[in-house]
Amino acid sequence: LPQSAEPAPPAPIIRKKLNGYVGFANLPNQVHRKSVRKGFQFTCMVVGESGLGKSTLINTLFNTSLYPPKEPLPPSAERPQTVAIESISADIEENGVRLRLTVVDTPGFGDFVNNEDSWRPIVESIETRFDSYLEQENRVNRQKIVDNRVHACLYFIQPTGHSLKPIDVEFMRQLHNKVNLIPIIAKADTLTDDEVADFKARILADIAYHNIHIFQAPTYENEDEEALAEAEEIASKIPFAVVGSDHFVKTPDGREVRGRVYPWGVVEVDNEDHCDFVKLRQMLIRTYMEELREYTNDVLYENWRTEKLLKMGVVQDQSVFKEINPASRMQEERVMHEAKLAKMEAEMKMVFQQKVQEKEAKLKQSEEELYARHREMKEALEKQRLELEDKKRRIEQGRPITPEKTNQTGRKKGFLRT
Ligand code: GTP
Repeated sequence: LPQSAEPAPPAPIIRKKLNGYVGFANLPNQVHRKSVRKGFQFTCMVVGESGLGKSTLINTLFNTSLYPPKEPLPPSAERPQTVAIESISADIEENGVRLRLTVVDTPGFGDFVNNEDSWRPIVESIETRFDSYLEQENRVNRQKIVDNRVHACLYFIQPTGHSLKPIDVEFMRQLHNKVNLIPIIAKADTLTDDEVADFKARILADIAYHNIHIFQAPTYENEDEEALAEAEEIASKIPFAVVGSDHFVKTPDGREVRGRVYPWGVVEVDNEDHCDFVKLRQMLIRTYMEELREYTNDVLYENWRTEKLLKMGVVQDQSVFKEINPASRMQEERVMHEAKLAKMEAEMKMVFQQKVQEKEAKLKQSEEELYARHREMKEALEKQRLELEDKKRRIEQGRPITPEKTNQTGRKKGFLRT
């Protein structure tokens, strides 16, 4: 085909002013209706060192209805540790919108002398969820896909007030390409406000230094001021300094709040002046749940899927090609048939040669036998000839025909005397 020298100019966009109501302004309502009918699925994972209050925060986030409190323990008993990856789901409904919420609690790490690979089971769990989604996508019937992928991962940082620990850096580096990482300063009630502010700055500097990608609250053009302010406020709180508590306590002014009692007062979980718990919940559920789901699907899962299929590619493509390409299959069958024929021919040749050798050996043997008989006969005839010649000579000389024998027996006298 002849190539045009210059690319075609882009089609002009014709802007029209509508005179009447067409109805596509109703599209957001259609999307809304459809989404409400389908419901939503959201999975949140908590990861962090042992004893940082992960299970407690889950209870706090979902007000214990999702994650039942552990059995009441005698005061002396130790609070049970999470020892395996546990996943708890609940169907929640608010104003007719259904949400299937799943929380994945992971066992705390950092208790061992060697914590080198403690991230592995957590990464494996995230990948298994991707695998299950991919498997559902590849089914013939893709109508009911259950989305168990982890949409947000709350990473708990010990409130040391220093910088990130090597184990935290390693964990985050292993996780950041597979989940929306949301860093959290655990048990923030153990730090003063200034300490929290310093610690946050150090954590952010460490995260930037180690090129760790954490979830960023996205901002869009043409967004209203309120939304922009909310996004900015949420972004300014990362990493969220949280306090968890599944108990209700009484404040000095008589209010019943979720919090922790200290000799100097009460730390309230739901008070934005005390900790960032409210902002965290707002970000997770009210403001960015859809963003988290979208980023998981469009970027994190997509990257993982591409990598996985590429890795499988060589082997898979070859087998698929063989299976579906009739020409290559015929060629393969022809080669196999030819190999079979060649084998048969070689076998026949071998049998034939064997038979020829046997025949040759037999012929040689009979030839030798004949030759031997011929030699024997020749010798016998020669002997006979010699005897006859001898006889003839004796007759001619007038001597008896059998001289020795006749001489010995005395029959010599008067016989053929010349
Ligand atoms: P593992 O199951 O071992 O991973 O522990 P975890 O991270 O799930 O911790 P868990 O929720 O079991 O809490 C451990 C202890 O910390 C409990 O005694 C909690 O009461 C306490 N705790 C939880 N959250 C906070 C908090 O925000 N501040 C303080 N001071 N203590 C907390």
